[in-house]
Amino acid sequence: MSYENLLTEKKNHTLYITINRASKLNALNKAVLSELHEAFSAAATDKEVQAIILTGDGSKAFVAGADISEFAHFSVEEGKRLSAEGHRLVFDFIANIGKPVIAAINGFALGGGLELAMSCHIRVASDNAKMGLPEVSLGVIPGYGGTQRLTQLVGKGKALEMIVTADMVDAQEAYRIGLVNHVTTAEGLIAKCEEIAAKIISKSPVAISHAIKALNASLQDGVNGFEVEIDEFGKCFGTADFKEGTTAFLEKRKAAFKGE
Ligand code: COA
Repeated sequence: MSYENLLTEKKNHTLYITINRASKLNALNKAVLSELHEAFSAAATDKEVQAIILTGDGSKAFVAGADISEFAHFSVEEGKRLSAEGHRLVFDFIANIGKPVIAAINGFALGGGLELAMSCHIRVASDNAKMGLPEVSLGVIPGYGGTQRLTQLVGKGKALEMIVTADMVDAQEAYRIGLVNHVTTAEGLIAKCEEIAAKIISKSPVAISHAIKALNASLQDGVNGFEVEIDEFGKCFGTADFKEGTTAFLEKRKAAFKGE
């Protein structure tokens, strides 16, 4: 499939998605969000895809935020809809997709850009990356999950400080506070993500999707994550991947998972 604002490539069971709007620092306008939804929807049902690497085009930005020019004139109702639709189509969609999404943060990840990275399952930053939620500078608050996901990742104290001061953190500080999993050089960024993807690809895709569901349940209000874990654990026993994984171990060979 081809897109106007995304570059996609499938290689070694990995889907690479690059937001291709470098002239606007890959800001998320309606068209980008809609194409991201299409690309992630297709990836969700594509058995060949076991891991996804998401990055921004150019050397300056992952994503510099939601496209400010598109919402500057919005009413209360339109603002609410913008946020709700964004959650549904992109941010929650990515967080709940059954295959790991790795954000390769190659520069500025601000506002909606950091929210996009935080909706991914794993974050790797290049050492020139800068991250923040500067929305209060615009008279608005993070609306694509930032108040929730930043708090979950770094704790309330640090999240609140970052949001109310609009301060950016550099890659090392992001690593120190647990906002990113790894920091690497700009040149080594995709290779580091591929190293993680290679480990994922060698494992059972079915078990990985059950694991993501159980992990996500730990942060859902009104959901008992332990019960979800019990359910998801049980379901694994009915899969071909479980039979293959346990048989391969007992036969002292490498498992060949089919994702079934
Ligand atoms: N929405 C719309 N356009 C954006 C954008 C955004 N979030 N972020 C950057 N752009 C555009 C700029 O308007 C500019 O377009 P132009 O060349 O047509 O004027 C282009 O991208 C390059 O950005 P520029 O500001 O010239 O680059 P810079 O190096 O001087 O500054 C940033 C880089 C990231 C510090 C600055 O672009 C910025 O503060 N962006 C907004 C960040 C933000 O508030 N994000 C949260 C939005 S909710």
